[in-house]
Amino acid sequence: MATCDLLIVGSGLFGLTMAERAVNEHGLNVTIIDRRDHLGGNAYSEKDAETGIEVHKYGAHLFHTSNERVWEYVNRFTTFTGYQHKVYTNHRGVVYPMPINLGTINQFFQAALSPDEARALIAEQAGELAGTDPENLNDKGISLIGRPLYEAFIKHYTGKQWQTDPKDLPASIISRLPVRYTYDNRYFNDTHEGLPTDGYTAWLERMADHPKIEVKLATDYFDTSQPLNRDAVRGQLPVVYTGPVDRYFDYAHGDLKWRTIDLETERLDTGDFQGTSVMNYADEDVPFTRIIEPRHFHPERDYPKDRTLIQREYSRFAERHDEPYYPVNGTADRETLLAYRELADAEQRTLFGGRLGTYKYLDMHMAIGSALTMADNDLPDLLRA
Ligand code: FDA
Repeated sequence: MATCDLLIVGSGLFGLTMAERAVNEHGLNVTIIDRRDHLGGNAYSEKDAETGIEVHKYGAHLFHTSNERVWEYVNRFTTFTGYQHKVYTNHRGVVYPMPINLGTINQFFQAALSPDEARALIAEQAGELAGTDPENLNDKGISLIGRPLYEAFIKHYTGKQWQTDPKDLPASIISRLPVRYTYDNRYFNDTHEGLPTDGYTAWLERMADHPKIEVKLATDYFDTSQPLNRDAVRGQLPVVYTGPVDRYFDYAHGDLKWRTIDLETERLDTGDFQGTSVMNYADEDVPFTRIIEPRHFHPERDYPKDRTLIQREYSRFAERHDEPYYPVNGTADRETLLAYRELADAEQRTLFGGRLGTYKYLDMHMAIGSALTMADNDLPDLLRA
């Protein structure tokens, strides 16, 4: 490709959507760079060489949306299976359905409560802290769903996610804890849900499959030895940047805090380890938060009958060299973010987007939706600048 009219830093769903729109809507020549050796960002998946099972490299990714524009858009690149996500949790050696629903409640209290009876019981148990204004997550949890359910299903799981005792976490982390007074245990409520039929990578590659899109992998925007680096192109070329916003400004206002996960993979000589894709572990004596068994994401596929693969997921705070996954978003982070937003707004010929560029947890449909909006509203101005 002769010229580059637009540089996109990051080949995740945000960058790919921007690239596809820039080419098909504006006829531009686009270069996408990514520091990883594959495209697709965190939604990337690959086939395990030993078992043939599709593994989500950066953690379980389930597609769901109620946004009709996004649904129509993603269906240009892939079809979706009918997969409906369900989660279970192991508490003291017994397995319960999640999120907490009438099935969970009746199993936990060994009862056959009706929806109204269950509602009354939970209201009575949550009344323990009536009239108080909970300051920490522990008290907030009790005030929302009562102590028994909170302590069984939320307290230690959240403690493991944050590596912090919920008594030392701010109440603001949760505003509600979903409890369903029906037996519905579908995890998502969205209109559309499913997994890409041929896998995530086929979908993501199709988005970039255009003669006017050039993808350069293993290319870091801050590596001054490669031609398209920040210092060389700053102000010279229109750029959409989807990497971490604090890194872009050389951490001038300090680091934004993230949580990350570690995945421990094991292959086993059985065709089915846990009978479902995601099993949470709610208790404190189990160090991981959950086990993912990816074969269950695609029951329609012809996977081996005598081999499976599982991923134990551990959660912790991220250091600079770790993959940033979930924004911590504490009070200090929010102030730091405002300072970076000011710098980003003033930056010439560069738009900041995606979860890293905006320091926001975005589900895939949200990343795509916000890229479509940015392509409509901000890209024309960026190109004119
Ligand atoms: P993304 O992180 O995907 O892409 C950014 C890209 O920029 C990366 O490829 C990175 O390498 C690159 N980059 C960064 N700095 C760079 C530099 N200096 N130079 C070059 N390239 C650089 N969503 C959902 O809908 N359902 C789900 O089940 C899940 N599950 C889930 C699990 C986990 C563990 C996480 C962390 C996230 C999810 N998500 C999710 C969210 C989903 O991953 C998210 O919506 C998309 O990754 C967002 O795409 P972005 O393009 O914004 O970022």
